[in-house]
Amino acid sequence: MNNKIPSASLSHYGYLEDRTPVSQVTMTNSHGVTVKVISYGGIITDVFTPDKNGEYANIVLGMDNIEAYESSNPYYGAIIGRYGNRIANGRFKLNGVEYQLAKNNGENHLHGGLNGFDRKNWQLAPFTTENSAGVTLTLISPDGDQGYPGQLEMTVTYVLTNNNSLEMSFSATTDKATIVNMTQHSYFNLAGSGSILGHELMIPAKSITPVDEGLIPTGELMAVADTPFDFNTAKAMGADIEASHQQLEYGKGYDHNYVLKPEVNDELIVAAKVSEPQSGRTLTVLTDEPAIQFYSGNFMDGTTSRNGKPFGFRTGFCLEPQHYPDSPNQPNFPSTTLLP
Ligand code: BGC
Repeated sequence: MNNKIPSASLSHYGYLEDRTPVSQVTMTNSHGVTVKVISYGGIITDVFTPDKNGEYANIVLGMDNIEAYESSNPYYGAIIGRYGNRIANGRFKLNGVEYQLAKNNGENHLHGGLNGFDRKNWQLAPFTTENSAGVTLTLISPDGDQGYPGQLEMTVTYVLTNNNSLEMSFSATTDKATIVNMTQHSYFNLAGSGSILGHELMIPAKSITPVDEGLIPTGELMAVADTPFDFNTAKAMGADIEASHQQLEYGKGYDHNYVLKPEVNDELIVAAKVSEPQSGRTLTVLTDEPAIQFYSGNFMDGTTSRNGKPFGFRTGFCLEPQHYPDSPNQPNFPSTTLLP
């Protein structure tokens, strides 16, 4: 599987219910690491990487086919937008105008609404360079889409390099002031299957934005020191997950936004490191976003499956680089407003 030339190939994946064709790009690097992406939701369906013995396994969760993705995908692998995470009551004000978005998570708006970017069919264009295989994804979201103002034109790229990194970049332009907070929602399991609680995690963050029962930030910052939320020194995801703490109760585990840097800038920094002792696989997440959501799969309940194997409670985790949840309603949080 070594010393191959990177490749990126386009193929047919299936049809949506309305017969729209869905395409797939398969990217492979010189080490044989393979990443598969479909046009629907820009979903990363597969990431095959070797373990310490050279055995390949898929380290992301996904579903069997397009029917499953279209009917019941809990955001596995998808591009999230326009606004990743929650907006309180689905409501926000911009330039004096109040906008009402869908309440698709109790009283709140989650991950762009009922027909967010995770459910749109993107255009895929594969490409290769000497050292990488990639795909460019494009989408136009019309003015008023899901209640958001402005026509938004997006370009996302996924690049699998020969250094075994998967680089993702997101860009958007609008014709009216709007809000944007895009992210990527892959669920990882570095062992390939089973509980994630033995994965060791490090997040270099001094604070989180604590939430209320509806997982909406209170607007404060909570220092993680001396709490179960402190991952500054690596520890197993499960080490303190059952500790008694109101924030763990509200999240049913970890489902929290870690503050990585006080201001918004382009500096790429380490946001998280994960290692799985049995397989020897590791994952390092770098981002220029000011925060990262760590979600420990607390709402997973075995109702989705792949190859006949149900995904049970906490068998996948997400590390979603993003701005803070509910920023449009929190004057002290970094702004998510995008101007024309
Ligand atoms: C959220 C969780 C939500 C999950 C859905 C995560 O980004 O933080 O609260 O249940 O997405 O897949």
